[in-house]
Amino acid sequence: MKKNLVDEINKQITYEFFSAQLYLAMGSYCKEHGFDGFESWFMTQYQEEHFHAMKFYRYMHERGAEVIIKGFEDPKIDYTSLANVFEYGIEHESFVTSRINLLMDIATQNKDYAAIQFLQWFINEQVEEEDSFRSMLQKIKMVGEVGEGIYHLDKEAALRVFTPPVK
Ligand SMILES: [Fe+2]
Ligand SMILES: [Fe+2]
Repeated sequence: MKKNLVDEINKQITYEFFSAQLYLAMGSYCKEHGFDGFESWFMTQYQEEHFHAMKFYRYMHERGAEVIIKGFEDPKIDYTSLANVFEYGIEHESFVTSRINLLMDIATQNKDYAAIQFLQWFINEQVEEEDSFRSMLQKIKMVGEVGEGIYHLDKEAALRVFTPPVK
């Protein structure tokens, strides 16, 4: 793999671990505010992001590229509401989408067909990620953050589980 792609994938590994950390913080905010179901939703999201990071990690080794593990900045913890958590989540996911698109641009410029094939999984995954945040925000806004509606939505959020994709 060419150096420019290796460098950017190494950065992406950090971003994916950062995403996990961010969603852990969001889950904790939910728990502190009595939304146990949303906490569980974010723990699933946390596991997904960890899986993403490891998928990149494994791929780098498969291609004989050097993995460089780095640290990252503190995630945001001061949210103003449940809707605010999801608004910030949407913002973060659209940033990640732009990162995946950048990786795909580089792989395409490099004519690295194997990497293009590998990255396609993430292109599709980001469509799902953005949709799951957006649709949850829509539901939160629909029912509001106090009362029976949010109580049921919280219960529904708890049903989301992490199932690692086969490959
Ligand atoms: Fe991710
Ligand atoms: Fe994500």
